[in-house]
Amino acid sequence: MKFAVYEVRPDETQDIARVQQALGVELVCTPETCTAETLALAAGCDGISTCGYSALDAALLAKIKAQGIRAVTTRTVGTNHIDLTAAHALGLAVGNANYGPESVADYTVMLLLMLLRNYKPAMWLQQVNDFSLPGLIGRQLRHLTVGVVGTGRIGCQVMQDLSGFGCRFIAADPHPNEKAAQYATYMPLEQLWQEADCITLHAPLLESTYHMVDRKALSMMKDGVVLINCARGPLMDMEAVTEAVESGKIGRLGLDVFENEEGIYHENHKYDDLKNREMAYLRQFRNVVLTQHMAFYTEEAVAEMVELGLRGLVGLLDGSQTSL
Ligand code: COI
Repeated sequence: MKFAVYEVRPDETQDIARVQQALGVELVCTPETCTAETLALAAGCDGISTCGYSALDAALLAKIKAQGIRAVTTRTVGTNHIDLTAAHALGLAVGNANYGPESVADYTVMLLLMLLRNYKPAMWLQQVNDFSLPGLIGRQLRHLTVGVVGTGRIGCQVMQDLSGFGCRFIAADPHPNEKAAQYATYMPLEQLWQEADCITLHAPLLESTYHMVDRKALSMMKDGVVLINCARGPLMDMEAVTEAVESGKIGRLGLDVFENEEGIYHENHKYDDLKNREMAYLRQFRNVVLTQHMAFYTEEAVAEMVELGLRGLVGLLDGSQTSL
């Protein structure tokens, strides 16, 4: 079997070589995203693997299929960049990488603690030898209610990790599960917006979750609410979120993902102007922590993403793995 592996980062190459050897497959690797222009790289391939930034829409999937490719995997959990309906209609098999939830869960806990204890302004001040305390007083989790939106593997892991801190958990998810119910009281989303001191999003990006944090949702939240998003940028209407930071409605904001981050995150723009106005504006706030979509980024997760992405192609092609 021969596969084209798109969006390859240097940190993946060792794992790719290891998995390639174990599977005995031929690979064409490229840092490029998969587009109509770069599809020629996959000539003669049986499968394609991407990593979250290739927009696999109906038109591109049709070209992929026409080139004789039978399976596509993404080395990510999220599949929002793939038109699954079009893939089904074309008979293209699709797989994702359900790597362990620990990397993103660890990161969520870190962001929450950084925000609650004002780590960003403390670090700024410390860098200029200002060791005073005013403005740095924090909050303790034991006295707070944490709302988890989306109680799949990551949402559950976040609650498991945070359970030692003694906070109260509330949760919202259209598909409640028993594991999450051990930690949290499920309730409608509107009620969660109203009751939570801290809210962390772990929902997939779907039509039904697009801009779930909008003006209306924000108006229901407590003044000074702590909001965290390590899932997908478009879950939040960034115009509404920016206004809520300005007004103080949002007291602390931690975003590892950002609406329209494509073309910015995971790239070096040191000498460029930032083309995302909200991103450029929001990052100045002392109570806003932005990071470059790196919650997943651990040695362990990367190894698993590569393994699941490439093994997934073999599995989809030999029939041992079912398509999404
Ligand atoms: C995911 O696995 O869904 C991620 O967000 C990782 C990233 C490389 C796009």
